[in-house]
Amino acid sequence: TVVVADTGDLDAIRTYQPQDCTTNPSLILKAASLPGYAQALREAQDMDDVEAAIDMLTIRIGTELTKIVPGYVSTEVDARLSFDTDAMVAKARHLIELYRQAGVGRERILIKLATTWEGVEAARVLEAEGIHCNMTLVFGTVQAVAAAQAGAFLISPFVGRITDWYKKSTGTKDYAVDEDPGVQSVREIYRHFKSHGYPTVVMGASFRSAAQVKALAGCDRLTVSPQLLGELAADEGTLERVLTPVAATESEASITEAEF
Ligand code: E4P
Repeated sequence: TVVVADTGDLDAIRTYQPQDCTTNPSLILKAASLPGYAQALREAQDMDDVEAAIDMLTIRIGTELTKIVPGYVSTEVDARLSFDTDAMVAKARHLIELYRQAGVGRERILIKLATTWEGVEAARVLEAEGIHCNMTLVFGTVQAVAAAQAGAFLISPFVGRITDWYKKSTGTKDYAVDEDPGVQSVREIYRHFKSHGYPTVVMGASFRSAAQVKALAGCDRLTVSPQLLGELAADEGTLERVLTPVAATESEASITEAEF
């Protein structure tokens, strides 16, 4: 399993040394309020164009992140564009161009798109141009398969938001980890992908507990908050299994169904 940090916090990344990191606008904003970005934040606040200010911060922080993770930095297209294919494609190309101007090649970036139908179509266009996509907000196998069939490089099936919804709608206080509907959803997607030979990387996301992360050890990638990485790092037995970054191809080759 390749470990990915779900954060834009440089210190956390230095501590846990993940292969990749994933960001979204709220993680970028959180990172921007950390000391290293005081100047960038002031510049952003002085800009009249809010969109341009957000893009500037995103690229500034994303560029720093590419210097400390060896793999991919996921950069999200604004969720408000999620039902407009052309707007998503245009925004993705714009972000890739801004990264290019900052000296970061497209091979280091995953453009994160919501897995709406319009997002799937946007991924089809972008992947054909060599812009790799991380399809986020995946809540089930049908959505996951649509993304894979469009040629998306990676999908992020969510755990916590599914579990939260089930808890709320059924009044369940807690699930045993093997009965956790979010964990089950990611397992089902993973098995479906491997048995059908989809090359799209499966990266479990939206974790609420270390137990959920451990339950998905063996998945291609897992993106985990610094808080949960801290809890996992304290658990020695898990460190080796979940936290050792390995090349994606090696990890994929080493996975067996029994293990997962
Ligand atoms: C990662 O790519 C996702 O944005 C993240 O894991 C979502 O987590 P949340 O459900 O806590 O917002």
